[in-house]
Amino acid sequence: MEKEMVIVLDFGGQYNQLIARRVRECNVYCEVHPYSMSLEKLKELNPKGIIFTGGPNSVYKEGAPGCTREIFEMGIPILGICYGSQLMAYLLGGNVKTAPVSEYGKTEVDVDKSSVLFSDVLEKTICWMSHTDYIEKEPEGFRVTACTPVCPVAAMENAEKQLYAVQFHPEVIHTQEGMKMLSNFVYNICHCSGNWRMDSFVETSIRQIREKVGSGKVLCALSGGVDSSVAAVLLAKAVGKQLTCVFVDHGLLRKNEGDEVEAVFGPKGPYDLNFVRVNAQERFYAKLAGVEEPEIKRKIIGEEFIRVFEEEAKKIGVVDFLVQGTIYPDVIESGLGKSAVIKSHHNVGGLPAYVDFKEIIEPLRLLFKDEVRKAGLELGIPEHLVYRQPFPGPGLGVRIIGEVTAQKVRMIQEADAIYREEIVKAGADKNLGQYFAALTNMRSVGVMGDERTYDYAVALRAVNTSDFMTAEAAQIPWEVLGIVAGRIVNEVKGVNRVLYDCTGKPPATIEFE
Ligand code: XMP
Repeated sequence: MEKEMVIVLDFGGQYNQLIARRVRECNVYCEVHPYSMSLEKLKELNPKGIIFTGGPNSVYKEGAPGCTREIFEMGIPILGICYGSQLMAYLLGGNVKTAPVSEYGKTEVDVDKSSVLFSDVLEKTICWMSHTDYIEKEPEGFRVTACTPVCPVAAMENAEKQLYAVQFHPEVIHTQEGMKMLSNFVYNICHCSGNWRMDSFVETSIRQIREKVGSGKVLCALSGGVDSSVAAVLLAKAVGKQLTCVFVDHGLLRKNEGDEVEAVFGPKGPYDLNFVRVNAQERFYAKLAGVEEPEIKRKIIGEEFIRVFEEEAKKIGVVDFLVQGTIYPDVIESGLGKSAVIKSHHNVGGLPAYVDFKEIIEPLRLLFKDEVRKAGLELGIPEHLVYRQPFPGPGLGVRIIGEVTAQKVRMIQEADAIYREEIVKAGADKNLGQYFAALTNMRSVGVMGDERTYDYAVALRAVNTSDFMTAEAAQIPWEVLGIVAGRIVNEVKGVNRVLYDCTGKPPATIEFE
């Protein structure tokens, strides 16, 4: 079967991976490459189509990312988006101008339905705009196929040369018919057949991992969460017993989780792995004693993790590769992409510079959470593991506000277990992206029996989200919250108050630290 691929050339836009993901949703394999990729390399990859991303620059700015005009002569269909569309216009002789005011947000666009790109799209369709520069005049040989009152060339094309450009962002959900446009591009312009499925990702990854690893030894950081479990099984299928999975019980896991992970991945589980469990609870608690600042806690946990791995690696002998279950949202939120640092995820930003391994393998680095789950199902991982809710690498360390102590860990483990049990019992878990209990560092006065108490408050969190980059607080039925609150204050010693977090993300984040 011919391997079809569309290439996204990244000009620095914030939605570059999102474009790739949308193309994959059309069942066409898609990879993101830097705009500076050579034409020879591009030809070698033999793409069925190319998409230019947006970017923060102006085409006239010195040193702005660009490409040679030859790319337009290769006979490969190209779709330019935002900056990509301006670049196309500029390089082919059109005019790009800076507007006095930016056009930003949902905008009604008039489209010419005779364009293949807009087939089956409404004549007036809502699109997401985010630009200051605009194409004032299209290059010769092009025709304008969409406009808004302030944007004379919201889309243009030279169908003969298979060159298409849109000023708006078809990849974001606010562009109501964006998926239709991208699907028109890959099917009706690039003539892809749509034969790619997640099993191809799994197959290709296994092959690439085998090539890379050769006869080397691999160490995998297994946390028991969805991402690292999928990464571990992928590696196990690729290199079998060359892989050792080290599961660090840092004492910041949910109640009974350490044993559950061991039951699945340990010697009695279904996978043929080398499995090592390290019980490092006391070591982590000692390092965290007296530390309150969230970023410092994250860094300490991340660093201690790596130290433990290094020690295990030494016991195993020479280890060449370290595997991590980093996924795409971790990469951008840790500031390794283009956006600002929100939190340094311990499996990405918290990595110390002096790691004792030849190379890090992150097979899921380009996938979004739901894509990771699909890959997990392809790999035959049981559904209850694949649909497990995400759990942060630093674990309860970021769900205990302020200083972490063994006693606080026990309190929050108990409270969280009660919360999760009652949510499942009430059938309220089905549509929730994530739900958990956190321990605030607020103590307040209560009365139990005839006694005054001065104890901690537990905060309950539940969010609806599909990408974990934005989320809204879920509406848990009041009766369920009542049962949970009653059980927590009665059963968890040291807690006398339960609060519900109604904040979305943004402005809050999902985790508390
Ligand atoms: P925030 O709190 O940033 O969380 O809104 C977004 C999603 O990421 C998870 N999360 C992490 N996952 N390592 C991880 O692997 C981390 O350090 C980490 N911090 C947050 C969080 O649970 C949510 O699903």
